[in-house]
Amino acid sequence: MVLVAPSMLSADFSKLGEELRRVSDAGADWAHLDVMDGMFVPNITIGPLVVKAIRNCSDIVFDVHLMIQDPVRYVRQFADAGADYLTVHIEAEGDIPAALKLIRELGVKAGISIKPATPVSAVEPYLDMIDLILVMTVEPGFGGQSFKEEGLEKISALRRLIDSSGRDILISVDGGINRETGKRCKEAGVDVLAAGSYLFGREDMAAEIRLWKETF
Ligand code: DX5
Ligand code: ZN
Repeated sequence: MVLVAPSMLSADFSKLGEELRRVSDAGADWAHLDVMDGMFVPNITIGPLVVKAIRNCSDIVFDVHLMIQDPVRYVRQFADAGADYLTVHIEAEGDIPAALKLIRELGVKAGISIKPATPVSAVEPYLDMIDLILVMTVEPGFGGQSFKEEGLEKISALRRLIDSSGRDILISVDGGINRETGKRCKEAGVDVLAAGSYLFGREDMAAEIRLWKETF
């Protein structure tokens, strides 16, 4: 069954704690939290302080997506703030293997993310260091963009790579996920659907999540 991770980027930030409870009450498996530094991506969002502030609003899994340069500098703060998964970008500056190693040392699951232009082969050297691969199907930085079709082939290729490696690594997809693209990503082999604007735009988020989990 697919795991559903609503992206809090599309939540009402004036009441983030309440929005987090809404997501967890709607039956979501994880809450996807987008951290942007204005350097790796043009946008700026939240830091560890905000993650920590909403940590006590729900015990839902915190899937923290770091769109920041030199992520190793902030890994400890996000781990202390209560991240369950910490995902860094392969394209970010800085020592990415060191970041992944530190994430695991701190007892957090480690993820690596690839932007639309980055090939699947780029993750191969990291397979022993990660618990999750996040495939971006839009350019990171903003919610509400359309799904890039090329992502589907990358997901299938990753599925084959992971299955043949015998490793326990989840594949997640992020960007332009809705009922239609989500279903196609699941068919291509994805384990986790991160979706922002579509899920938050539904009147009944719970019904939508149920439908995804029962029919994909
Ligand atoms: C974009 C973020 C996404 C974003 C997705 O850089 O990583 O998590 O919230 O938003 P939608 O689902 O609207 O494309
Ligand atoms: Zn994200």
